[in-house]
Amino acid sequence: MTDTSQPVRAVAGYRNSLLRSPARAPWPRIISPADTTGPVFDPAAVEPSEHDLSVISPGRPRAMGQLIVITGQVLDEDGRPFPNALLECWQANAAGKYIHHNDPSSVPVDPNFIGVGRVMTDAQGRYRLRTIKPGGYAVPDHGEGQLSGWWRPPHVHFSIFGPAFSSRLVTQMYFPGDPLNERDLLLNSIPDEAARSRLIGRFAPDLSTADGALGFRHDFVLRGRLETPFEDDHR
Ligand SMILES: [Fe+2]
Repeated sequence: MTDTSQPVRAVAGYRNSLLRSPARAPWPRIISPADTTGPVFDPAAVEPSEHDLSVISPGRPRAMGQLIVITGQVLDEDGRPFPNALLECWQANAAGKYIHHNDPSSVPVDPNFIGVGRVMTDAQGRYRLRTIKPGGYAVPDHGEGQLSGWWRPPHVHFSIFGPAFSSRLVTQMYFPGDPLNERDLLLNSIPDEAARSRLIGRFAPDLSTADGALGFRHDFVLRGRLETPFEDDHR
């Protein structure tokens, strides 16, 4: 049975998804103990400063754009916090540009913004990131099979690692009220509306900081009825 809370694999209008989507059912793979027991991420390996994408290093100017804080919890299907998960995030700069060879746009790079961060969840499954709000961007026109004029809405990519490399989930967070959300092929590749809404962060004025960061709350639910839509087919 198709799970309508998760993205479809082949997204009409998104050429890369058509090329990457397997036409046949995947082979079941034998999971070995090595797959599930290691490596274990050491919280000490993640520097506290890595949660702050808005400055590359102490003393440098902060990145251009609207400062934001994103915070929330990683939870299991029963609402229990998931501690010691490694959250990695990556995003475009405020103008919608990635520092990546696959981003061919002429939008300027911000010399004070790299766009990657890491944080471990604490004992209550909580995380907190400080960054700048990413800009939307025009998706390059790859020709046949690709919708032209498609813009990605502002979004932050997330990877969540559990206690082993094999326990990885990948997803994106969107921002509330953005008109591009309704037109995005990836967000709308999730058939279920309630599931789509779980990818949109909530504006949280109480999290706003004295130095001008706007707050957003966003939780990740690993399984169950309220599961976050993930990009990997992990069943
Ligand atoms: Fe992106």
